[in-house]
Amino acid sequence: MNKFTFYNPVKLIFGKGQLEAVKTELPKYGKKVLVVYGGGSIKKNGLYDEVMETLTSANMEVFELSGVEPNPRLSTAKKGIEICKNEDIDVLLAVGGGSVIDCTKLIASGAKYDGDAWDFVSRKAQPKEALPFGTVLTLAATGSEMNAGSVITNEETQEKYGWGSPLSFPKFSILDPTYTMTVPEDQTIYGIVDMMSHMFEQYFHNAKNTPVQDQMIEGVLRAVIETAPKLMEDLQSYEHRETILFAGTMGLNNFLQMGYNGDWATHNIEHAVSAVYDIPHAGGLAILFPHWMRHNVKVDPARFAQLAVRVFGVDAEGKSDEETALEGIDRLSAFWTSLGAPSKLEDYKIDDSSFESIIEKTLVYGEFGNFNKLNDKDVREILQASV
Ligand code: NZQ
Ligand code: ZN
Repeated sequence: MNKFTFYNPVKLIFGKGQLEAVKTELPKYGKKVLVVYGGGSIKKNGLYDEVMETLTSANMEVFELSGVEPNPRLSTAKKGIEICKNEDIDVLLAVGGGSVIDCTKLIASGAKYDGDAWDFVSRKAQPKEALPFGTVLTLAATGSEMNAGSVITNEETQEKYGWGSPLSFPKFSILDPTYTMTVPEDQTIYGIVDMMSHMFEQYFHNAKNTPVQDQMIEGVLRAVIETAPKLMEDLQSYEHRETILFAGTMGLNNFLQMGYNGDWATHNIEHAVSAVYDIPHAGGLAILFPHWMRHNVKVDPARFAQLAVRVFGVDAEGKSDEETALEGIDRLSAFWTSLGAPSKLEDYKIDDSSFESIIEKTLVYGEFGNFNKLNDKDVREILQASV
């Protein structure tokens, strides 16, 4: 493995009834809190009322920013930044899925910056200071609750990029599986696809000698593959929601990425697709990932074969590594399809008319991918195969 420094300061507060912890965690950072949430799911399922009661009993002065979109927009983050500056907010509380948390991360840094917050996303500037924030997670998917990444869409320029800073780690994250029980079927599927994709991105790297990391990733993937169909059968199962919620957090909180950089090319391509078409992030991943894998099998057939055998149960007897690998990729596609995930761009009515614009966006920082560098020709081939 490569040399590394591991740093993750997020206080993870997991389990039933843990919302109570807000009362002790939040007042540490001040009195005025901006609560950030999405389009209303927390009002429908009662979490909004619970949060407000908790904040009142903690004597917090509450301000609100609602309406954060899936694929959160720069303009919405700017509204939050304005509230923070005008009202002298001390601390933020994100209540929602990855989009709400990502938006909160930009608000937290933007509130302490005089320039345009897009500077952080477009990597023109790095935050030097940020407001503290906590999260109450409602959807198992991104890992944003325990990482420092944030993905923001500039709707005017149709750009969507990930950015991050050591100041973008939540101070604490509250994960009560109960709050994920109302996540509808489609978002539950997307969450499962997203967390599995994060693990694939990390599995494909260039470092040598990573048996511990390999088997940690394989183990979490196997648990997700075992649990996901049961959860789809019973969306109200606390037990399965709990497993999937924990898996999503472990999938992208730096634990599985010690000693190497993951590939992350498929995420880059997907962010470009959803910048142009505003489709759900993991809907795009479900379509693109198997094609990224097929495109790259020859780079290291043994690694793909290892995944096929250990995670997808392929029998390698009498087969070449490449044959085993391809069988594993077919099983992955079949698994996602069995859950109800999309499998072609056509499912979102996307044809090749915007491919050049998508390709250009993927290459804004040059050729990309840590397992295998992709150029414009590679991206075009992966997109063509995904139609
Ligand atoms: O907006 P509301 O009304 O809350 O509804 C949301 C939204 O419509 C709904 N939802 C969330 N919790 C719910 C619920 N509905 C019922 N019951 C609940 N308990 O689900 C919809 C999707 O929410 P969203 O937050 O967009 O989903 P997700 O958590 O999948 O986040 C997706 C965003 O995260 C980015 C993606 O690009 C995308 O913008 N990512 C962030 C990452 C990170 N920060 O580390 C990594 C990821 O790879 C990803 O790129
Ligand atoms: Zn993702």
